[in-house]
Amino acid sequence: MTDRIVQVCFVCLGNICRSPTAEGVMQRLLDDSGLGDKIRVDSAGTAAYHVGERSDKRSREAARPRGIALDSRGRQFQTEDFERFDYVLAMDESNLMDLKALKGATDHSGHLGLLRAFDAIAPPGAEVPDPYYGGDSGFEDVLDLCEAACRGLLERIREDFELP
Ligand code: 4NP
Repeated sequence: MTDRIVQVCFVCLGNICRSPTAEGVMQRLLDDSGLGDKIRVDSAGTAAYHVGERSDKRSREAARPRGIALDSRGRQFQTEDFERFDYVLAMDESNLMDLKALKGATDHSGHLGLLRAFDAIAPPGAEVPDPYYGGDSGFEDVLDLCEAACRGLLERIREDFELP
């Protein structure tokens, strides 16, 4: 079993809809499984449009009935973040391409990939679609997709780091 804290960062474009939702979903799973002191979660955006802002009200209102609080503030992912995070998980291919460009020649040895790759029944390349310009159902979909993927992610982290 690892004696250090495993660090996970979820990344989308604006850091106000999808990645804070994934962060909140994963925190809820960690609280429920008692692993909150072993695994730490964060989120960020590839863009700086919403730095310092609260998560989108529609995301917060969709998450609340599921017992998930979205309390983070928007921030932009920085190259130095690769030094800290064991898992950097992108919501879509565009985010992933931006992260790969940012990663460049850093010596990040952790995992960089799509979040939904951890959902065993999602097809290869599956994304969490951007709900920002759509209706309320898009925000429910984001929650469902994040829940399925984060369950798989938690199992994978448990295996990788021999956590109980
Ligand atoms: P997110 O959604 O990447 O899931 O946080 C978006 C938020 C804001 C914008 C686009 C997507 N925007 O263009 O401002």
